[in-house]
Amino acid sequence: MDRMIGVIGGSGLYDIAGLEEPAWVSLETPWGAPSDQILTGRLSGVKMAFLPRHGRGHVHTPSSVPYRANIDALKQLGVTDVVAVSAVGSLKEAYAPGDFLIVDQYIDRTFAREKSFFGPGLVGHVSVAHPVCADLAALCAQAAKSTGLTVHEGGTYVAMEGPQFSTKAESELYRSWGADVIGMTGMPEAKLAREAELHYACIAMITDYDCWHPDHDAVDVAQVIAVAQKNAAKARDLLSALPELIAGPQETCATGCGAALDCAVMTAPG
Ligand code: ADE
Repeated sequence: MDRMIGVIGGSGLYDIAGLEEPAWVSLETPWGAPSDQILTGRLSGVKMAFLPRHGRGHVHTPSSVPYRANIDALKQLGVTDVVAVSAVGSLKEAYAPGDFLIVDQYIDRTFAREKSFFGPGLVGHVSVAHPVCADLAALCAQAAKSTGLTVHEGGTYVAMEGPQFSTKAESELYRSWGADVIGMTGMPEAKLAREAELHYACIAMITDYDCWHPDHDAVDVAQVIAVAQKNAAKARDLLSALPELIAGPQETCATGCGAALDCAVMTAPG
């Protein structure tokens, strides 16, 4: 099966030059409607789908994003590889606003979201020991390097509930854990992608130093938006470089994303 890339990210990402046969499609899922319509098209011969995570106009809070519907809708469209683009704060001096980081681990501190496609009647436990597809993440890093971005490979993303930013004590706590970046939407998206047996990688776009940094004021939305807008063009360049690297039939990945359910289901077949 040929691969199809699903991009979940902010609205500045969709004006990709050269997207062929663009069409906005509406989908329904057993988990409700996704965040918005999905823009489908083709880039360098590879099928693409773009889903605005917060909806156009930014109407969903990090807690109200319909994560299950979003992953289900991408799966219905035939997406094989999900590339998440997320604005994050930096927890390390070396990771500056404007830089990109390819995430490889998460600490999930979210608590007010539906986190699984499984539930009473169908119980399953997938492994998320390696929550990101190592092969897809490597391709994202390669695409980033080819476009001249400052990119850091590998790092731990703290997913917080929000919508408020962290207290200074929380920010220092996450730093003491060795975490690299913090954001509000990385989970349960990555876990659900694994349950759906999709390859998933996250390109974290660093917009600020969070509140721990002695030389920076507290995080504010104006700063986050300003850096995110400045970086949207860079993120588009990265996404444009990806299809050529990914083209061709799907191979099994080293992380085993496509076999995540093989040993996961506890409930006896009815
Ligand atoms: N998104 C962008 N910057 C952030 C921060 N500092 N904390 C949480 N989410 C963010």
